[in-house]
Amino acid sequence: MSRWLDDALFYEIYPQSFCDSNGDGIGDINGIISKLDYIHSLGCNAIWMNPCYDSPFVDAGYDVRDYYKVAPRYGTNDDIRRLCEEIHSRSMHILLDLVPGHTSDQCSWFRESQKHDRNEYTDRYIWTDTVWEDVGGIVNVMGLTRGGTERNGAYLTNFFNAQPALNYGFADPDPDRPWQQGINEPGPRGTVEAMKDVMRFWLSLGCDGFRVDMAGSLIKADPDQSANIRLWQEFRAFLDAEYPDAVMVSEWAQPDKSLLAGFHMDFLLHFGPSHYMDLFRTETPYFSREGKGSLKQFFDLYMDNMNKTRAGGGMMCIPSGNHDMVRISRFLDPEELKLAFAFILSMPGVPFIYYGDEIGMKYVEDLVSVEGGYERTGSRSPMAFDCGKNAGFSAADPGDLYIRQDDSRSTVNVEYEERDERSVLNEVRRLTAFRKAHPALHNRSDFEMVYCEDHKYPLAFIRKSDEESMLVIFNPSSEDASLDFDLPEKYDIVYRAGRIRDDSVLDESCFSMSDKKDASGMFPAESAIFIRII
Ligand code: GLC
Ligand code: CA
Repeated sequence: MSRWLDDALFYEIYPQSFCDSNGDGIGDINGIISKLDYIHSLGCNAIWMNPCYDSPFVDAGYDVRDYYKVAPRYGTNDDIRRLCEEIHSRSMHILLDLVPGHTSDQCSWFRESQKHDRNEYTDRYIWTDTVWEDVGGIVNVMGLTRGGTERNGAYLTNFFNAQPALNYGFADPDPDRPWQQGINEPGPRGTVEAMKDVMRFWLSLGCDGFRVDMAGSLIKADPDQSANIRLWQEFRAFLDAEYPDAVMVSEWAQPDKSLLAGFHMDFLLHFGPSHYMDLFRTETPYFSREGKGSLKQFFDLYMDNMNKTRAGGGMMCIPSGNHDMVRISRFLDPEELKLAFAFILSMPGVPFIYYGDEIGMKYVEDLVSVEGGYERTGSRSPMAFDCGKNAGFSAADPGDLYIRQDDSRSTVNVEYEERDERSVLNEVRRLTAFRKAHPALHNRSDFEMVYCEDHKYPLAFIRKSDEESMLVIFNPSSEDASLDFDLPEKYDIVYRAGRIRDDSVLDESCFSMSDKKDASGMFPAESAIFIRII
């Protein structure tokens, strides 16, 4: 069942910005099909594509107008079918984006729900009993919109005002507010069944599963998320019965909850308790050569989550970035970025590469917001493939592109970097091939911490499978750092990244070993090294 996750390596595609096949300035499905060989050449064998459904694009497609129809600007449902076939013919897999928590306010379900007279959709969304009612302080309730409807009530919204929340009920409804329905009432049950139909539709069309948007917040007034967990267990049971191979990854950012809920994997993200930001995106990220970061809190929680979820076989995903975060290259320069990728590609779980990060594509500063992106807009600019017009993204006039491209696209692009042995792109390709070739580094192989102290460098851990053990050491800081480690009799240096790659010799002197009193034990600056222990 879903064994393909054991060696999955994902690439996230933002469809509007990946490849435009018909010159209208916006990416589309045929464009993606034309770049599948490129994605495969990165060593990626799976794709997560952001929403591709019909939408007024108030939130870039996370405001779905029609769950059953591809947005015409991307193509047709048949194009998605063909995309899935092309992906499978390369032994790759694809997850679509499921947005179960809210729709667009232009969705026909919501239009019906706004009507004064009762109908099938009256309870599909969460409406108060009068337009004047106020709500506040309820867990998972993000907003309320009043007025503009025939129905006398205000409706809850999830993210932007144009995203009315679907009604999955309240875990703990307030008895004084009868509009808060229990999770087993007909309204919430109708929503659950409707969402199962949506899943059936796309799985039957050929996708391999879903990335699930805002997965932890469907049920309201559920402070410990136990009702949300049970809801997802129900969805999982439905999939196990009808689509046992369907894979689900959650945008929940709390693996101790999501993996229990039946998700195969969950992301560590810029929100939630994970300290993911400490890796690459704080004022002083660990992977910057400044050497002022700390991964202590990140790893304390990581190990804790690993222990709590080990039994269920779920995995944690560390992404290089995504469409909601400022690009990693705004915090790390290309040399630092290579070590960051060495980290992402040596950790357990399923790695995700956000399109463009593999070439160190830049965050585009000072853009006017596009489709509800706001500061996220700069991370969503079109992919740079070559040195030609619009960096090979589109044949349109540059002024007609979905989002303006960064000025560095003439050198930060696939074609240019392919020619440079030292580029980020080539390092990423070497690293993915290296991961694939070494069982110790595979998604499900063991992880053991060797050294991770507060505000100290280096970081060292061991990855282990039945076949081999690998000691992995990172020192992204610009100072050599001491490491206490008893190197075994026999070992083999199998990969070097960063400065150590060319001008340092690594030998036993890098380790202060307990049996050699005079060993200096300084591990070289700005380097990563992989040592196979024999
Ligand atoms: C998720 C998406 C984000 C979207 C929001 C509302 O966080 O990743 O892009 O705006 O949900 O659907
Ligand atoms: Ca197009």
